[in-house]
Amino acid sequence: MHLAFQTLLVVSAYFVSTIATPIIWDGRASLNLTNADLDTSTGPFLTVVKGSENASHYSQLLGQSLLPTPLWNGGSNSSEQQEQVVSVSIDNSSVFVPGGSSPQYGFRRTDIIAANNGEHTDLITQMETGKTIFHVSIQQDEQRPLNYSHEYQIVFIEPNDGTHVFEIQLGSPFTNPTGDVPVSDAHSFKVRDHALNVLFTTPFTASVWHNFAVEVDWNALTIAVWYSQDGELLQQVVQTTSNPTASSGPNGQGDFHFTVLKLPLVNPADSPSNQNDVVHYGIQEGATEALLYSGVFVESAADGLSRGFGVVQQL
Ligand SMILES: *[C@@H]1O[C@H](CO)[C@@H](O)[C@H](O)[C@H]1NC(C)=O
Ligand SMILES: *[C@@H]1O[C@H](CO)[C@@H](O)[C@H](O)[C@H]1NC(C)=O
Ligand SMILES: *[C@@H]1O[C@H](CO)[C@@H](O)[C@H](O)[C@H]1NC(C)=O
Ligand SMILES: *[C@@H]1O[C@H](CO)[C@@H](O)[C@H](O)[C@H]1NC(C)=O
Ligand SMILES: *[C@@H]1O[C@H](CO)[C@@H](O)[C@H](O)[C@H]1NC(C)=O
Repeated sequence: MHLAFQTLLVVSAYFVSTIATPIIWDGRASLNLTNADLDTSTGPFLTVVKGSENASHYSQLLGQSLLPTPLWNGGSNSSEQQEQVVSVSIDNSSVFVPGGSSPQYGFRRTDIIAANNGEHTDLITQMETGKTIFHVSIQQDEQRPLNYSHEYQIVFIEPNDGTHVFEIQLGSPFTNPTGDVPVSDAHSFKVRDHALNVLFTTPFTASVWHNFAVEVDWNALTIAVWYSQDGELLQQVVQTTSNPTASSGPNGQGDFHFTVLKLPLVNPADSPSNQNDVVHYGIQEGATEALLYSGVFVESAADGLSRGFGVVQQL
């Protein structure tokens, strides 16, 4: 018993010293990042996809008021906190107006996009070459819940054609006409591939961090998924699987978003063609809703996958 305990200590010390694989982009908000930095897209987040208010109206850094995922922050020992939680919210003003295009009245959205001081184009090629792993941890904001009658697309990589290499989704998928909502698994996360096949689903329970890692092989066009809660090491939940409808090369690459993107319900008063135009038409209640994020980063898979606390799984 005593010997086993000592062995365990030695093993964990060894893993801690062999920390992680090359990090390509680090969106774990350092403790000195400020809400003013969010307004100017200074640091790791491009914050331009939002409504008419300043970025810090919708997104805030929570300082030391809430602990981030334990995986990269010394477990439950708050003195080892390395990053701040980021809250991302929408309200009825969250109507994005793309440059030179019409307002997206169908959606309510606040997107945070991976960048380095606003620069995101070069980063795309760095993050989306070879085999790379996209990490994100998500927690409910219990004061500002989502409305599970709607669909939410919350984490995705979006090439120029508007498709998603993979995505994490919540709620009731948009249908026209609207079906019986909320659907039975509306409160579960779904990890979907480019063709929208559900690869993994798990309930979005309250008060815990839900940790995800998605490996993308940009040449072989495959994906694999890991998941855990709070301080449990990430466990593989989807083996390497083909993502055949994804494109290779620049057409298949795009910005990495973590968001609250809320789709509408069909408005029966709209014309039939407008009823299918989810971007510009449909019903939104205009409520204030939010999600909490931490542990967002992208690593190369060259030296393995970080499972938490410096433990690496060779791939
Ligand atoms: C914030 O902290 C990080 C390390 O945690 C450091 O690299 C960076 O220079 C700091 N930024 C400012 C503006 O002090
Ligand atoms: C955004 O912030 C700037 C600088 O703090 C302020 O002058 C401006 O009024 C704000 N805009 C909105 C829409 O709140
Ligand atoms: C928490 O971490 C600090 C800094 O690493 C350390 O000094 C302290 O002993 C830890 N506390 C516990 C309860 O592990
Ligand atoms: C929400 O915003 C839309 C679009 O700007 C507007 O038509 C609607 O009246 C607003 N609803 C509420 C409840 O403020
Ligand atoms: C959620 O959305 C449905 C469909 O639009 C609506 O009937 C319901 O009132 C909404 N709930 C809240 C709390 O906003």
